Amino acid sequence: MVDQPLLARPNSPNSSANDIEEEDALLTGQPTNRQPTQYKKWREIGIFVWALLATIAVVILAVVYQHETSLSRSRHRTGGWGPDGKPTGKRNMIFMVSDGMGPTSLAMTREWRQWTSGLPVDDILVLDQHHIGQSRTRSTSSLITDSAAGATAFSCGFKSYNGAISVLPDHTPCGTVLEAAKRAGYMTGLVVTTRITDATPACFAAHANRREYEDLIAEQLIGNYPLGRVVDLIIGGGRCHFLPNTTEGSCRADSTDVVAMAKDKFDFSYIDNKEDFDNLDAKGGVKLPLLALLASGDIPYEIDRVHVSDVYPSQSEMAEVALKALSAATKDSDKGFFLMIEGSRIDHAGHGNDPAAQVHEVMAHDKAFSAVLKHLEEDSVEGVLVSTSDHETGGLAAARQLHQAYPMYRWFPGVLSNATHSGEYLSGQWRQFLDSSSTSSRKDKQDKATELISSGLGIKDYTQEEVDSIVDAQPIWPPSYLFADMVSRRAQIGWSTHGHSAADVNIYASSPDHAPGLVGNHENIEVGQFIAEYLDLDLKPITEELKSKKVKTSSVVGQEGEAWGEWMGPPGLALNDNGKLAQVDEYHGDFKHRKREAESDCGCGMKH
Ligand SMILES: *[C@@H]1O[C@H](CO)[C@@H](O)[C@H](O)[C@H]1NC(C)=O
Ligand SMILES: *[C@@H]1O[C@H](CO)[C@@H](O)[C@H](O)[C@H]1NC(C)=O
Ligand SMILES: [Zn+2]
Ligand SMILES: [Zn+2]
Repeated sequence: MVDQPLLARPNSPNSSANDIEEEDALLTGQPTNRQPTQYKKWREIGIFVWALLATIAVVILAVVYQHETSLSRSRHRTGGWGPDGKPTGKRNMIFMVSDGMGPTSLAMTREWRQWTSGLPVDDILVLDQHHIGQSRTRSTSSLITDSAAGATAFSCGFKSYNGAISVLPDHTPCGTVLEAAKRAGYMTGLVVTTRITDATPACFAAHANRREYEDLIAEQLIGNYPLGRVVDLIIGGGRCHFLPNTTEGSCRADSTDVVAMAKDKFDFSYIDNKEDFDNLDAKGGVKLPLLALLASGDIPYEIDRVHVSDVYPSQSEMAEVALKALSAATKDSDKGFFLMIEGSRIDHAGHGNDPAAQVHEVMAHDKAFSAVLKHLEEDSVEGVLVSTSDHETGGLAAARQLHQAYPMYRWFPGVLSNATHSGEYLSGQWRQFLDSSSTSSRKDKQDKATELISSGLGIKDYTQEEVDSIVDAQPIWPPSYLFADMVSRRAQIGWSTHGHSAADVNIYASSPDHAPGLVGNHENIEVGQFIAEYLDLDLKPITEELKSKKVKTSSVVGQEGEAWGEWMGPPGLALNDNGKLAQVDEYHGDFKHRKREAESDCGCGMKH
């Protein structure tokens, strides 16, 4: 006889179906269709009465207990929670973005952590314990969103095109939750591990027709735009966009000194290194507004940062400083704060198809999430933490078929543990080696590549072919990809793209009760709408104000003209690969197109 799954077996006459019928009868008081004897009948009535009394007792106890806990909670907190699911008084909102983190990033990181630390299968991440829903991420221009359109959904509560920094498809600006929060009397903050001018943070306090206008965005973030200064605390990387092009370490196209502008015109205190960051607290608390630009570009991946933790702070260190500073600054206010914290580089590890870098980025985000939770628990002000992703990156799979033979059902977390550096870091070391030893022979190069593979990735079974692929690498498929791929293949981790994917992403919250509107499956714009509702914000007047002001910034990006949108940079209409105006993409009949573009070195292949 063929084995049948357990559940498909036909019921035997003595199966539990009859028991269930009986149980049902006990609970509802309705007789079953069998005729009970007199004794049985009285016994059933007895059991029924007992069950009823027990149930009533349990309900009463539960209500009393619930009442007690909510009393003790509200005793040391401001206001408590109203019937609309929001605190009645002062409140804080911490919104976290895990850029590019899809559901598989969580599974991979959880399993890797269990394996590495010898933890049981039910040991899960803090994020896992706070999962409440999912977000659908498409933009107006594509089924696959980018971080700009993704963050515009969070900041404005509207869908827009890929590349839009809080502007709508008609190139009008949309007021953001941060701007509205500032106007309503909240304090505001942005904390990221990438450039503060990158798409996610930019969308909360800047408006630009294209995400590439990072010089323009830098000026807007500190207040040089129609609304004036709206951010009280900025911690992250991207310093090079704030320094004039006459200075070493600048990546600005013009000679505007945005740091000087921040200090002189907008009263920011400015720090640019870890030592000053560590001392922020020392002199009687953090002085706001604060501009802390702690890296020229991105803060290094966590897997690399731990080796230079005296130079760069971690995501949770930055989050803790921000929470403390904003709490202190709003201590005597009847309004709390809005803080956005981004685990920015989960996305970059996805773009790099680098699983070792990614698990450390996800752990860093989990740790920061945990730090925020702890703050909320200890704080006397009511607050909510919501964390979600803008999209998935990499098309990550915790599985990989490497050969024609049917694959084993396995992936190998240990391979990720043996890597002590990211592909990006090793690629940087490789570049340095090439720059500093222009006369090196092929053998020298092979030796260097071998050393990097062995010491940085912990891989000893490298092949000659793999070593040569690094020696012969071309810009279109850089060494960073090759290093990371050596790890992915050995770990049997799969990737379907170096870009983003259309997967739904997870939503997390301090409690489902704190964000009932986000439980279940939602459009990404509902996340933005939730933030506005929770803080009682009206974004429309902000939008009107932005539209009404024909203010020009000092940036040279915009051309001369009268259009009110000029301060957001030229519209630069979003285009498809084939040059058509962006609508939802159609298949262009040319799947090699992007390759030609990349070969022509237009630099347009690396959008995050
Ligand atoms: C620096 O910026 C100014 C405009 O502000 C520009 O004229 C000049 O060419 C720039 N210099 C460099 C080296 O890019
Ligand atoms: C990790 O490195 C150790 C030491 O080189 C080695 O014995 C082990 O096999 C490696 N593990 C994996 C999964 O590659
Ligand atoms: Zn993103
Ligand atoms: Zn990205």
